[in-house]
Amino acid sequence: MTNKIGNFIAGKWSDSLSGRRFQSRNPADNRQVVIEAPLSGRDDVDRAVAAARAALPSWRRLPAPRRGEILYRAGELLNANRQRLGELVTGEMGKVIAEGLGDVQEAIDIAYYMAGEGRRLQGETVPSELPDKDCKSIREPLGVVALITPWNFPIAIPAWKLFAALICGNTAILKPSSDTPACAAALVEILAEAGVPDGVVNFVCGPGEEVGEYLFCHPDLDAASFTGSCAAGERLERLLAPLHRPLALEMGGKNAIVVMDDADLELALEGTLWGGFGTSGQRCTAASRIIVHERIHDRFVGMLSESASRLRLGNGLDAGTHVGPLVNESQGQKVLDFIGIGREEGAQMLTGGHRVTDGELAHGFFIAPTVFAEVTPQMRIAREEIFGPVVSVLRCASFEEAVATVNAVPFGLSSAIYSRDVNVTARAERELATGIVYINASTIGAEVHLPFGGWRHSGSGHPEAGGRGGAVDFFSRVKVIYRDYSGRLQKAQIDK
Ligand code: UN1
Repeated sequence: MTNKIGNFIAGKWSDSLSGRRFQSRNPADNRQVVIEAPLSGRDDVDRAVAAARAALPSWRRLPAPRRGEILYRAGELLNANRQRLGELVTGEMGKVIAEGLGDVQEAIDIAYYMAGEGRRLQGETVPSELPDKDCKSIREPLGVVALITPWNFPIAIPAWKLFAALICGNTAILKPSSDTPACAAALVEILAEAGVPDGVVNFVCGPGEEVGEYLFCHPDLDAASFTGSCAAGERLERLLAPLHRPLALEMGGKNAIVVMDDADLELALEGTLWGGFGTSGQRCTAASRIIVHERIHDRFVGMLSESASRLRLGNGLDAGTHVGPLVNESQGQKVLDFIGIGREEGAQMLTGGHRVTDGELAHGFFIAPTVFAEVTPQMRIAREEIFGPVVSVLRCASFEEAVATVNAVPFGLSSAIYSRDVNVTARAERELATGIVYINASTIGAEVHLPFGGWRHSGSGHPEAGGRGGAVDFFSRVKVIYRDYSGRLQKAQIDK
C-alpha cells in the first residue's frame, strides 16, 4: 500500500476537494513511490487562506516568547526524529544521507534560533526632539503569508521560512515543491505536535503554475516568500507587481571559487569537490565556476579531474556514495543539455559528461561528475545556472581579473577565494559582489544565525535566516509610535 499525505488546513489533514492525487518518487530508484499527495486546486487554496486569516488575531496577540516556546519544542521534536527525517530527505530528494541529516540539522538550528528571537524582536527607542514626547518603533506581523519552497533543501528551507514567519506573529500557507511533499508534510506534522494552534500553519500540495501562482496572487494574502528557479521567481514578480505586497525571492546562483597561486591546493581541491558535486550540484550555493590562477592552473586542473572521476555515484543511503542522483528526469535532461552546450562552445571536457546507467543506477538519473576546462567567461556554461554536477574551470592571470570574472555574471549569491595572503583575502572580502563570501572555504556552508541572500538576479534583497537584515526583517513590518504627554499641541519641525 502506498503511503499518502493530505493537505493540512485549519488543523486537519484532508484530501484535496477534487480527490485527485500525484506521486513523489525516490530519485535513486524511480520504481519506488515515496508518497501520494493531494493534487490541489484553487478551492483548496481558498480554504487554506481563510483558515490562516481566521487564526491570525489570536496568534499575533500571543506573546512572542510564547510563540518561541512552541518553536523550541518543534526543534526538540526535529532533533528526536533526526534520523528518520534525514532518511526521508534522502529517500525523497536523493542527497547522500550525511547531507540529508544536515538538512534536518539546519531546521533544528533555525528552530532554536527563532525561538530565542521571540525574546528579542527588537525595535528602537530614541529621544524626541520635543519635550514631553517619546518615540519608539515596534515590529508587527505582516499578516497571512504564503511560502513556496524548493526540493533541494526539502526540510531546511520550509523551516527557514515558516519559523521566521511564525515568530513574528504571521499565519502561513506552505506550498512545497511537488518533488518533495513528504518532507514538508513531516515538518508540518512536527509543528502541529509542538503545539502550533489550528490554522496558524496550513499546507497545500499541487503544481506551481496552478496552485502556487493562485496562492501568491490571492486577494486575501498579505505577503509571499519564494525560493526556486529564476524563471518561476521572475514570473511571480511580474504577477505580483500590481498587488503591492511584500515579496521575497531567493533564486539562482553561478557561484565561483577563486584559487590563487599561493593557495593550499589540497584544501582548495576539497572545497571544489564539495561545492561542485555535493548534493549533485543541486544547491543555489553550488560552486559551478572555478577560477584558477594560471601559475597553478594545469596542476590544479589535473588534481580536480582525477579526484572528480573517482567520486562514487549511488543511492544516497549507501555508506560509500559520494554523489546521489539528480532529483528527476527533467532536471537530469537539463544538465545533459548544458553538457552538450559546453562541448559545442569548445570547452574541454576532462571527465564525466554522461548519464550512468550501470546496474541499479538505471533506475535513477545519475550523471558522472563533470569537469570542463578552458572555459571562457562568455560561454553559457560560465554564465547560466546548471544545477547539476558540472564544474567549469576558467583561467585568470591576476587577482583583479579573477574578481572581475566572478562579478561579471548577473547572479550574486556566494563566492569563495583560496589564498594564504591576508592582504589578498581582505581585498576579496571588499570586492566580491555576492551576498555571501567565503575565505579559504567552499561556496556552501552558510550558518543559520546570519542572513542568507543573493544580490542582483539571485534574489530580491530580502535574505533568509537570522541576523540583522535576515528573515525577521522581511516577515515583520515596523510601526513607529510617537507619544506626546505634554498636554499641548507640539509640531516637530515647525516648532524650531
Ligand atoms: C541552498 O543552496 O538552496 O550554505 C541553501 C548552504 C546551506 C544552505 C543552502 N546551508 O549551502
